[in-house]
This record gives sequence, structure tokens and C-alpha cells, in this order.
Amino acid sequence: MALLPILRYPDPRLHKKAAPVERVDESVRKLIADMAETMYEAPGIGLAATQVDVHKRIIVIDVSEDKSTLLAFINPEILESAGEQVCEEGCLSVPGIYEKVTRSERVKVRALDPQGAPFTLEAEGLLAVCIQHEIDHLEGKVFVEHLSQLKQGRIKARLAKQARITA
Ligand code: NI
Repeated sequence: MALLPILRYPDPRLHKKAAPVERVDESVRKLIADMAETMYEAPGIGLAATQVDVHKRIIVIDVSEDKSTLLAFINPEILESAGEQVCEEGCLSVPGIYEKVTRSERVKVRALDPQGAPFTLEAEGLLAVCIQHEIDHLEGKVFVEHLSQLKQGRIKARLAKQARITA
């Protein structure tokens, strides 16, 4: 396994739309293993392939307390969503920024597992938020783009300043 570099907002590569995975093979399983390692190391609770500059529809998530429940979704699709919740979100591509975002309370998602088998999952609460956040990444959307233009401008300025300090 290998740690993968994570793109930082506002890197334009975060706005690429990811393509469906046509064949679930060893290279996809290796990418999932590397993405999981990168997510746990960060540490984070979700990571989309887009964030490691691979523009394929793959996400990994683990919202468990003890980091024991890795979920991998290949070609995820939201079939149904219901309700509304507001959750303070962060993102490994937007370090140090936490903002409230309104999303669906419950989602039903369909995807392929690492063996290429289809499954559906009904999620609510934090897991539902995480699934929506990661699928957004596959569409080229970063969570801050749910916020006002004013807030987005402030966040960009803050990240540019951080980049200057750490460069
Ligand atoms: Ni994110």
C-alpha cells in the first residue's frame, strides 16, 4: 500500500468530473487500499478518488469510532434521499476549514463493491452526510461550494495565506 498526495482546494483538478469504472479489477482494488491508507493516515472519515487526482468514480468511507468499518463504493449513485440535516463539515482537501452544510438526512445508495458485486445501502446521519460529500467530489464539487460566494472568497484567501506560510 502507499500513501497518496491529496489535492488542496482551490486546485482546479478538484473540479474534474470523475468517469465511471468500467471493470473492477486488481488496479481498482489497489487504488481502494491506497485510498483507505491515505484516509486513515490523514486522518479523515472519507476520501474520493478525485482528491488523489484519479478521476474515477470511487470513494472510501469509515465513520466508525474505532476505524474498523471501511466502506468502499465504486460507481455510487444516490437512488433516494429524504429529510434535511445541517452538519459541520470538513474536508482533507480544505484543511482547517469547518462549515455548516445542509444535506439530506437519509440516502439510499447503490454501488459496486471491491469484488464488482452490486449492493445497496441505506444511510442516515453522519454516514449519509459523508456519502453525499464524497459523491460531490466525483462531480467536481468541493463542500465549500455549498456556501455563499463571500464565504468561499474568505476561505480561498485563508488557504492562500496558509500555503504561503508553509511553502
Ligand atoms: Ni472532502
